[in-house]
Amino acid sequence: MKRVKTIDLTPGMILSEDVYSYDRSVMILPKGSVLSDKSITRLAFYSVLHVLVEDEQVGLNQQHAEPSYSERLRATPEFQKFQKEFEGDAEQFKDKINDVVKHNKPLDVESMITPVYTLIDQSSGPSNVFDMLHSLRQYDDATYVHCINVALICSCLAKWMRLSEADTLVATQAGLLHDIGKLLIPGEIISKPAKLTEDEYHIVQTHPRQGYEIIKDLSIDTRIKNAVLMHHERCDGSGYPFGITADRIDPVAKIVAIADVYDATTSARVYRGPQCPFVAIGLFENEGLQKYDTRAIMTFLSNVVNTYLLNRVRLNNGIEGEIVFINPDRLARPTIKAGSSYVDLAQNPDLYIEAII
Ligand SMILES: [Fe+2]
Ligand SMILES: [Fe+2]
Repeated sequence: MKRVKTIDLTPGMILSEDVYSYDRSVMILPKGSVLSDKSITRLAFYSVLHVLVEDEQVGLNQQHAEPSYSERLRATPEFQKFQKEFEGDAEQFKDKINDVVKHNKPLDVESMITPVYTLIDQSSGPSNVFDMLHSLRQYDDATYVHCINVALICSCLAKWMRLSEADTLVATQAGLLHDIGKLLIPGEIISKPAKLTEDEYHIVQTHPRQGYEIIKDLSIDTRIKNAVLMHHERCDGSGYPFGITADRIDPVAKIVAIADVYDATTSARVYRGPQCPFVAIGLFENEGLQKYDTRAIMTFLSNVVNTYLLNRVRLNNGIEGEIVFINPDRLARPTIKAGSSYVDLAQNPDLYIEAII
């Protein structure tokens, strides 16, 4: 028997214990279960950090022969090029940002943003950027990668909102720099492999102010500085550091806020695996759309959802089907065609989309 992190589990491993949700209200998988891609996703979904498994594992012949949607995408030359460029850009960005934060070198936003634009130009439109990002999810969740993701998402959202080219550039730059203050937070807190204590959380919450201090005297667009300071503010006043409301939050900070939450929810975190985009959209819908700028959030969610129209998905009851109709009032709950029957998720509150396959 050995203890294995959920992110390191592979199909065919056998559970040596019953696994429950954190509050023990749900039995996620019983002892003796042979793990599959599906059940590993389920463990990640319930934020299970690690499980006990047997030393022996069954042959992999029970795995699905069909490659999943993201496996197929990852095999394309276009994706492989994107991945290579993305990883190179993340490294470069890391060096440049460290020069600014730790060695007081001047910040050259123009040269930082160029690789991000190259990435955008290479993919055929915003939907493609989202597909690529979702398939990169398993690789890394460091602050640097998160910043590039947020920059890419900001650029898509700005385009969907039909902002001018100049404003789109500002939103993209703001996305790239929004978490610059996190580089001054102790690494052991940022990458702690568990939920943060209250004290640690308060330390993390200082990053917008610390980031603002780093860039406040630089000759860059004021909206970028505002976005660094205000990207955790929420339109209903529930955010931080000031708890200000919609009328006082910079519009660029409102765009970054959406891109930031979306990326944080759909990326793998040290304490849980990546979440399906529909889970993220559902979280936005449940958490309260009033926290976000109405035009920005509606534009964002409807475009993201439309990216997945006609994709195959798996529901939490194991049924697989195709998204055939998006309900504009319940974006996370489209209608699925499974074989010859239709499942309207808006009418089935117990069901949800667990994964895109
Ligand atoms: Fe942040
Ligand atoms: Fe962030």
